[in-house]
Amino acid sequence: MDDYNEEFIQKIINTKWLGRKVIYENVIDSTNEAVKKALNTAPEGLLVVADAQTVGKGSKGRSWSSPPGTGIWMSCLLKPEIDAYKACELTLLISFCIVKVLHAVFEIDAKIKWPNDVILNGKKIAGILTEVCSDREKKQCLITGIGINVNQDNFPDEIKDMASSILIETGRQISRRKLIAGILESLENEYEQYLISNSLGNMCEEYNGLLIHHNQKVRLINGNKETMVLSKGIDKHGKLEVEYENGQKEFINMGELSIRGSSCYI
Ligand code: BTN
Repeated sequence: MDDYNEEFIQKIINTKWLGRKVIYENVIDSTNEAVKKALNTAPEGLLVVADAQTVGKGSKGRSWSSPPGTGIWMSCLLKPEIDAYKACELTLLISFCIVKVLHAVFEIDAKIKWPNDVILNGKKIAGILTEVCSDREKKQCLITGIGINVNQDNFPDEIKDMASSILIETGRQISRRKLIAGILESLENEYEQYLISNSLGNMCEEYNGLLIHHNQKVRLINGNKETMVLSKGIDKHGKLEVEYENGQKEFINMGELSIRGSSCYI
């Protein structure tokens, strides 16, 4: 087991403000909920990490399996002065940081499935849930929850074609706190640049290079309707440009429609 507690996590994080304050729990309902409870008193950059969650929340109202001793279940508090509708741009920034760190620090060839799933060998290994609320001074707060399947050695039959862990896909057991530290360092840097330019313009070319479906045909899912399109990459606000078979192009907003591989889920 990796050394995983407040002291060890705090010690390895080398940032200016993100994750300088760490709350660690062995078991918690949800790290997103813990940040929500702390947001009136906590500084921007608060990091809540749990070894296990009992009510881990996934996107679209789903639950997120968070067993002990295996994954990274963590949430950060950010207070960016941006319009609320731009919060999803930060979700995209986080998936970008996770994938970059997996490449640079661990030589793991993960990819991004737009807008923010992290994929390894065609299976999802990480997801992000950003929630927006305000503190008692009416300042906008973003709670950015990150779930990464790191060292699980199996998944239930119902999801094992779609979900996996770094251990299963690489055969390597990696240090959760080293991965946390890398993500926070990368995110602090990217977030500061994002606030200066008020857009994802600085990173969209690199992000597009990390997309699993870059310049590939995908299925665009709109309710029950599926349309085959070419996925062209994001613009500086994180919208995905797609090209229909008749040559018409469109920018898709995050959350409105979803993307699937041309013949499988991913
Ligand atoms: C997704 O469905 O892709 C998003 C998953 C987000 C899971 C993380 S684990 C830490 C944080 N706390 C939660 O309850 N959810 C997020």
